[in-house]
Amino acid sequence: MTAFTTETSATGVQAPSVGTARTRVEGRDKVTGAARYAGEVPFAGLAHGWLVLSRVARGRIRSLDTAPVLAMPGVLAVLDHRNAPRLETDYTGLLGMRPDPTCAVFQHDRVPHLGWPVALVVAETSEQAREAAETLVVHYEQQPHETEFTGEHPDAHPVDGHMPAVTRKGDLDAELAASAVVVDAEYTTPEEHHNPMEPHAATARWDAGRLEVIDSNQGATWVVGELASLFSLDPASVRVRSEHVGGGFGSKGVRAHQVAAVMAATVLQRPVRVVLTRRQMFSLAGYRSPTSQRVRLGADADGRLRALEHRALSLTSTVHEFVEPSAGVARVMYDADAHHTANRVVALDVPSPTFMRAPGEAPGSFALECALDELAEKCGVDPVELRLRNEPARGPVSGLPFAGRNLAACLREGARRFGWADRDPRPGVRRDGRRLLGTGMAAASFPAGAAPSTATATAHPDGTFTVRISAADIGTGARTALTLVAADALRVAPERVRVRIGDSDFGPAMIAGGSMGTRSWSWAINEAAGELRDRLAIGAGVPPEGITVRSDTTAAIGALAPAERHSYGAQFAEVAVDVDTGEVRVRRMLGIFAAGRIVNPLTARNQLLGGMIWGISMALHEEAVRDHASGGHVGADLAGYHVATHADVPRIEADWIDDADPDDPVGIKGIGEIGIVGAAAAVANAVRHATGVRHRTLPIRPDRVLSAVEEVPDARPGS
Ligand code: MOS
Repeated sequence: MTAFTTETSATGVQAPSVGTARTRVEGRDKVTGAARYAGEVPFAGLAHGWLVLSRVARGRIRSLDTAPVLAMPGVLAVLDHRNAPRLETDYTGLLGMRPDPTCAVFQHDRVPHLGWPVALVVAETSEQAREAAETLVVHYEQQPHETEFTGEHPDAHPVDGHMPAVTRKGDLDAELAASAVVVDAEYTTPEEHHNPMEPHAATARWDAGRLEVIDSNQGATWVVGELASLFSLDPASVRVRSEHVGGGFGSKGVRAHQVAAVMAATVLQRPVRVVLTRRQMFSLAGYRSPTSQRVRLGADADGRLRALEHRALSLTSTVHEFVEPSAGVARVMYDADAHHTANRVVALDVPSPTFMRAPGEAPGSFALECALDELAEKCGVDPVELRLRNEPARGPVSGLPFAGRNLAACLREGARRFGWADRDPRPGVRRDGRRLLGTGMAAASFPAGAAPSTATATAHPDGTFTVRISAADIGTGARTALTLVAADALRVAPERVRVRIGDSDFGPAMIAGGSMGTRSWSWAINEAAGELRDRLAIGAGVPPEGITVRSDTTAAIGALAPAERHSYGAQFAEVAVDVDTGEVRVRRMLGIFAAGRIVNPLTARNQLLGGMIWGISMALHEEAVRDHASGGHVGADLAGYHVATHADVPRIEADWIDDADPDDPVGIKGIGEIGIVGAAAAVANAVRHATGVRHRTLPIRPDRVLSAVEEVPDARPGS
């Protein structure tokens, strides 16, 4: 037995670690290559699977010429709808959602979109599998397809998704008629992709009657649950590990490759690895639907809203109903006597869209926050002031009180630091050579939730501690943040704490999603580590096997009082628009956030900046282009799909105000998604201020800027 000692500083008290800037605990492993990702963990006897994707956008598989492929070097098997194991798909999974049938591979001969998995070729090496997969001839009975998304589709219908489709309060027509100022505008955003740096990859094997999957995902608990349901297995007989994950953004749930790998491992009784190529990710990893949004605002002359309507349309596939709920953000941000919102979808012959960083809020805030900017201009009210005048006292739709709504503080602090007070509101009058200069702003919110999780904390005789939780660090720095939270709960230095994550055997836990990961895991760790500390404090000796305390936050989180719980932000941008080339350059950007207690300022700033950069990218660059003749993408790679890179991101700052959540044991709200919300609107509003032209269609490409500037003769310098 070893006596427990509390580490103390010179003052006799261990200083808190939460709130101090720390480099990633696994940073050295990552930069030296010691960290292994799902596609590179070695296994004896490993076989490699390569997915074959359909080349038609709609139809049926008539036949597959597998015999010649099976005769190719190293080829072990070809799985398709005729011989693959049957799956159970009639269940409700995470968030009460049905499984996306795209992951239930090889169950029927129907092809619902181009890029649909039609076979898996398994071979001794990845090269042999790829060669054989590319050789496999598949005959289709092709049917006409429809992939074109427009705002006018007759089949558009409301869909609830993870929030109600439609909300309605008050008489919209009457309030619009009584308004001194009305804005009625349509905004569109294109199909956008969240291809993370690390491609989706999984290795599956059976080991002593248990299925083990080494995977790149946003939640081991999630993947275990879905695989157990699909393959009708006892969840206890499935183990999913994902120690390091190179990005997710909503795309890394259960997808075709994990399921195909498990099928092949089962059939061959060998470990099988399936890795998606970048190109395959464009059809199999999910994406953000294009949106068409109409916003109608009616206000009194002083800018106070009487009417607010936000109607959004997104697309989904014909096999899975996923809605991008863009109209949801209006239910939090602004109130009006008449307040109507609606999320609708139309099903087309395209891959299933999915969650992508701030699903709903990202495109929704573009439309809503641009509309507010249009209203500010029409009313002659400063855009920051307009938002302050429209701060609601209670949830506009829910009627619930706000728990910690610090949007006004973000707006004021952001305006002060950006130098907003000196702004001349007139559009198209500032010039720097052939560039027109402008500034714009937008407000932001994102839900601050928590979900039940379990964790264990173990005290070892040598005075160190191990914390285990099925968390996923998808590049956010979660592992490091959790180390700081555990250290504070134990009141020891973080160097004495080892946090182990990414293993479903650690017990059920929330996914890295909905900006809820770090908060939900911290809650469970705080509880387990706090109780462990209490036990040690009363003098418990530590036996050789250690002392372990387990926590489960189901009851504590269930007891949270209903309220509107959100993070907030204010985004400010300055742009320079070259009227000869149409190029828009962001010159500086500032985001001020109220997003709970910040656990690790170093990685938190990184998260927020990443979101803001994505907003720049969304405003100016990102657009997946579909060739409607084939139904597939043009340039499904990171050369053809443009994203903001270093030269596009000159000087941006993210900071925060004090906003500790009193209802959270650590004070956390969550910062994963708030950074992107409003960012594209701030840039678009700045372009309007610079050029005098309002761009309601993203991205604001050079050709769009040029053709719009031509229509405004005064916008050209020297004219
Ligand atoms: Mo996120 S879109 O909740 O991974």
